[in-house]
Amino acid sequence: MGKHRILSGIQPTGNLHLGNYLGAIRNWVQLQEEYDSFLFMADLHAITVPHDPAKLAEDTLNVAATYLACGIDPTKATIFVQSHISAHSELAWLFNCITPVNWLERMIQFKEKAVKQGENVSIGLFAYPVLQAADILLYEPDQVPVGEDQKQHIELTRDIAARLNFQYGSEEQPVLKVPEPLIQKAGARVMSLTDGTKKMSKSDPSELSRIDLLDSPELIQKKVKRCKTDPVRGLTFDDPERPECHNLLTLYMLLSGQSQATVAAECADMGWGQFKPLLTETLVASLGPIRETFLELTSDRTYLETVLREGREKAAAIANSTLTKVKDALGYARPF
Ligand code: TYM
Repeated sequence: MGKHRILSGIQPTGNLHLGNYLGAIRNWVQLQEEYDSFLFMADLHAITVPHDPAKLAEDTLNVAATYLACGIDPTKATIFVQSHISAHSELAWLFNCITPVNWLERMIQFKEKAVKQGENVSIGLFAYPVLQAADILLYEPDQVPVGEDQKQHIELTRDIAARLNFQYGSEEQPVLKVPEPLIQKAGARVMSLTDGTKKMSKSDPSELSRIDLLDSPELIQKKVKRCKTDPVRGLTFDDPERPECHNLLTLYMLLSGQSQATVAAECADMGWGQFKPLLTETLVASLGPIRETFLELTSDRTYLETVLREGREKAAAIANSTLTKVKDALGYARPF
């Protein structure tokens, strides 16, 4: 039996942060050892809110370089750009025609993002999860490793696959494979540094709310110094009254590679004045090598371009074959 497959992606909108790393990329680095991995830059999704055309291409390459800098190995994983494979857009259209509008009206991320866009909400923002379903189902993955905020989109993907199978396939011969979400417990929801009840997010207007993977040691130190804490001495996990404390301890635990019990014991009697330098040191030690490798990789465009060309060729073959399968099931004439 062949390896099981995973697929996942990130939007190239601005710098990637600790949430993207701990909720997604870091898990992919481990999974690539065991799974046939397909990882891409979701640049079609990046234009569902206003974007800067002068930055899109560069941001896309920078996300690819970040994947590699974090330890994604192109000999183990297929890395590609979403817009380079037209099957994504084409399958999304076919799915648009079988997805009920009310399924999309329920999407939490749409509601959150739509509020910020006012009158300018595009059809693209509304149909965003349908494109995401196409991204996923084209590659017939077994699992989709993401952070907690994407769970609803993966459930919708499963619903779209099941509906298409029901309408155009048969139980014995489903057209599409129905994948599972893969959400690790720790790191699945990294919270803002300025408000422990809000998710760390690229779109938060305050830079102090997040740690970007490419932040300098000085900037990391400044952000940790200024992050929100509480006046209680002794640091504990899982206290609902202390969301910031739980979040910061979790970051320390994940980046230092220690167990929750070890961290809980180490920090039980600590004050913030002792913990913050420890967290800063751990962050700098984890992110420093990523930043250095990123800078090396972005100074050699040829290597990055080769990785993405090879990725595109491999990904396109699989995507086109699934697209043909769906078009056959829907009754399209093959090209003459
Ligand atoms: P995006 O670009 O918002 O986020 C990329 C990945 O990072 C995770 N993530 C977080 N995890 C933990 N804590 C946080 N604060 C945090 N913020 C972000 C996300 O869960 C995600 O795994 N729609 C997707 C991109 C996409 C996609 C796909 C993903 C397009 N097609 C197909 C998987 C499969 C998105 O906008 O992710």
